[in-house]
Amino acid sequence: MAKPKVFVSRIIPEKGQKMITDACDAEIWQDDQPTPRAVLLEKIKDCEGLLCLLTEKIDAELLDAAPKLKVVANLAVGFDNIDVPECTKRGVLIGNTPGVLTETTADFAFTLLMATARRVVEGDNYTRAGKWLTWGPMILVGQDIHHATLGLIGLGRIGSEMAKRAKGFSMKVMYYDPFRREDLEKELGLVYADLDTILRESDFVSIHVPLMKETHHLMNAENFKKMKKTAILINSARGPIVDTMALNDALRAGTIGGAGLDVTDPEPIPMDHPLLGAPNCVIAPHIASGSVNTRSNMSIMAAQNILAGLTGADMPAPVNQADVRKAAKK
Ligand code: GLV
Repeated sequence: MAKPKVFVSRIIPEKGQKMITDACDAEIWQDDQPTPRAVLLEKIKDCEGLLCLLTEKIDAELLDAAPKLKVVANLAVGFDNIDVPECTKRGVLIGNTPGVLTETTADFAFTLLMATARRVVEGDNYTRAGKWLTWGPMILVGQDIHHATLGLIGLGRIGSEMAKRAKGFSMKVMYYDPFRREDLEKELGLVYADLDTILRESDFVSIHVPLMKETHHLMNAENFKKMKKTAILINSARGPIVDTMALNDALRAGTIGGAGLDVTDPEPIPMDHPLLGAPNCVIAPHIASGSVNTRSNMSIMAAQNILAGLTGADMPAPVNQADVRKAAKK
């Protein structure tokens, strides 16, 4: 029997890639840069499976170009790049990679918090620029992390892991989430609060919600004004949750004290973007889940999603499998 045709839109870690090439007639895009849209639309025209990244938009146009498509596996936990209702309408299954990247992503969010608070990047630049001429009591002083207050916007998997890390630094942790987690409040000593209280009282505000209509520009000019002047914003979720120009203004005006970002809007951030010149802003290139092990595990999970979706088995991390199956029964 002919193997199912699958397109993989970038080179992925070996384990997941091998699972796909062993079982499928797979083509793997070899360039470091995303598959150009027109090429992608051409490549997938006979494919039953697509393993894609958050850089690919999976929308009606793409689905029109791929009439045989059965399954899309996103190599990411977030799937705001995918039009879920449109896939469901056409019976196309979607998988993502939750769980395997939770702790690695929280490690990085906390790394950004520490790097921004203690001015690590500025310190490195200062040293390399030959400015380190003596020890000085006023040089590159930052904010304390221990015993400071961390406000989490979102207490899902990654937010909860961020809370655990903060507790290891004796921080007070507050959180806002539409779903209250009294179990975690007890277990970790967290305080539940509304968004305004979090913004007002936190020394660090860290975002751990998905990008949705409701969270688009959640952090805007009005909300920056509610924060402490010394507060630091951490975003390792999705760029458009923050109004980038409002953040740029808030940093430049001293409305808030700093920002540590793993995600931006737009992404990648153009080299002439004003935010690159804003004070106390650390920007990483969307690498929070980027440890060798985690990326390998993400590739395995994405491959499992593809293989299960192609054979009608249960996907390990389904997004719309229940809805697609329900519709198929009707
Ligand atoms: C990365 O941003 C992911 O959603 O996994």
